[in-house]
Amino acid sequence: MRIALLGCGVVGSDVVRLLHTHAEDLAARVGAPLELAGVAVRRPSIARDLPVDPAVFTGDAAALATRDDIDIVVEVVGGIEPARGWLLAALRAGKSVVTANKALLATHGAALYDAAAAHGVDLYYEAAVAGAIPLLRPLRESLAGDRVRRVLGIVNGTTNYILTRMDETGAGFAEALEEATALGYAEADPSADIDGFDAAAKAAIIAQLAFHTRVTLDDVHREGIGDITAADIASARAMGCTVKALAIAERSVEAPGVSVRVHPAMIPRAHPLAAVRDAFNAVFVEAEAAGQLMFYGRGAGGSPTASAVLGDLVAVARNRLAGRRGPGESAYAALPVLPMGAT
Ligand code: HSE
Repeated sequence: MRIALLGCGVVGSDVVRLLHTHAEDLAARVGAPLELAGVAVRRPSIARDLPVDPAVFTGDAAALATRDDIDIVVEVVGGIEPARGWLLAALRAGKSVVTANKALLATHGAALYDAAAAHGVDLYYEAAVAGAIPLLRPLRESLAGDRVRRVLGIVNGTTNYILTRMDETGAGFAEALEEATALGYAEADPSADIDGFDAAAKAAIIAQLAFHTRVTLDDVHREGIGDITAADIASARAMGCTVKALAIAERSVEAPGVSVRVHPAMIPRAHPLAAVRDAFNAVFVEAEAAGQLMFYGRGAGGSPTASAVLGDLVAVARNRLAGRRGPGESAYAALPVLPMGAT
């Protein structure tokens, strides 16, 4: 299986390392070696301390994504364009795609899902939401026979890190953000974290899969944590609470419809979500038959996110070798997205 990697930043570098370190295990699990045939980066000629032949680096992602010898395209660049064009072209050229691009899936997911279905290839994106935590496949597959009522979670590591530091050490907002950036959690533009866009994109993807309907970033009510002050944290503490940035997706009990929102909330210190510290993520799922489920783990950072990418790579490579594709997102119900508070 020949792989093209688009992007080689924090996550991409760890994908390269894991492909190298686990090469034998991966080949055994897939039934064929996973060969890194090309890596597209902005500056191909700079020296990188990575276990891969420097000759695989190229500056031409568009050409690499559709090259004849490539089976699977892995995209870890992020952002809408040019990633959207590269991935649509790759799917149309019959490549299977693995991506960590939440913004793209939350805005143009439908076009990508349709292209994958039309060309009989896989589109997997476990790494797009909650990093290393296996969440999307359980929502899409394990709970496909149930009815999800509500999903409630901490899905942004950067803001959870900042709020934890402000709460536990009295650190200032800017100082805590600097630390989160240095640790590789924050987005290239950290306002995507602070203003809630990152969590809103993840909430839209969660809602798509939990409710088998189309929800986009524009449907998500969004409030960031930029206005949270040390005084807010102290008042929450005085009331036995802590402040967390939550993503909430709910199915209406009144009428067909869903509501999806992201905002800071005060939660009691005894609540399990209050114990989610640093860049960890946690997601509660309430389903009619299953009851309450909780998913917890590292939601940001190179190696946790690369773990989810590698898991998708193995699944996609197995499907490709067997001449089949995994479950897609074609069976959507047309549930209306309700305004905030309507559920
Ligand atoms: N910036 C994101 C976060 C990275 O902090 O959660 C993972 O999507």
